[in-house]
Amino acid sequence: MSDVAITIRNVSKAFGSGAGRQYALRDVSLDIRHGEILMLMGPSGSGKTTLLSIMGGILAPTAGDITVDGVSIAAMSRRQLAQVRLASIGFIFQEYNLFPTLDCMGNLLVALDLRGIRGATAKKTAMDRLTDVGMADKAREYPAKLSGGQKQRLAIARALSGNPRVLLADEPTAALDSENGLRIMALLQALAREHGRAVVIVTHDNRITGFADRVVRIEDGRLHPDSPAEETA
Ligand SMILES: Nc1ncnc2c1ncn2[C@@H]1O[C@H](COP(=O)(O)OP(=O)(O)O)[C@@H](O)[C@H]1O
Ligand SMILES: [Mg+2]
Repeated sequence: MSDVAITIRNVSKAFGSGAGRQYALRDVSLDIRHGEILMLMGPSGSGKTTLLSIMGGILAPTAGDITVDGVSIAAMSRRQLAQVRLASIGFIFQEYNLFPTLDCMGNLLVALDLRGIRGATAKKTAMDRLTDVGMADKAREYPAKLSGGQKQRLAIARALSGNPRVLLADEPTAALDSENGLRIMALLQALAREHGRAVVIVTHDNRITGFADRVVRIEDGRLHPDSPAEETA
């Protein structure tokens, strides 16, 4: 298998129609490799979340193509896309998207159930993922009782539950103090280094850029011309 995890080719995205039509992304091309941490930086409204959502198959592009592990997803049906997402992609949402009525263990069991993993295997896997993020002692706690850093770690544990090769994180340190932010980054770095995952982090947090293998800047929906969009190694 190629070490290229995701390719984005000439992707544009427009929202709205008629006179209200606006482009959030214009002709974006980018490669993301397994084992690397790529940071996508840019001001608010520049298209970061839109691009991340397109990479994760959550949003369809208006034009252009995306491949995940060599397979084109731009023209897939919803059903096929859902399969790719479940098998290959872990998405960490900016607002966590945790289930408030389920405890930490329950939040992971739901994600595992979607992948057909149930019973004792699911419980063991959920506990392993909570242990990975230092939350084993919080298995029976509900999200409302968790600190911001703990919610973020739970969201990461959930994104990892299907053992995805690609991890996409939207501003994972924005709501955290420096200590918790660095802890989250160390965790994401280990996932890229030790498990060869492709990790894409959307951020405008300058405190964490030292963790990036590559920083790509986006402004008004276009990648900055100085950004090394395609590795030539
Ligand atoms: N669902 C949507 N409908 C209409 N416009 C949207 C939608 N999502 C994003 N946009 C617009 O696209 C642009 C980029 O948004 P976004 O990707 O969220 O930026 P960022 O994450 O960099 O702050 C903004 O102008 C935003 O208003
Ligand atoms: Mg955003």
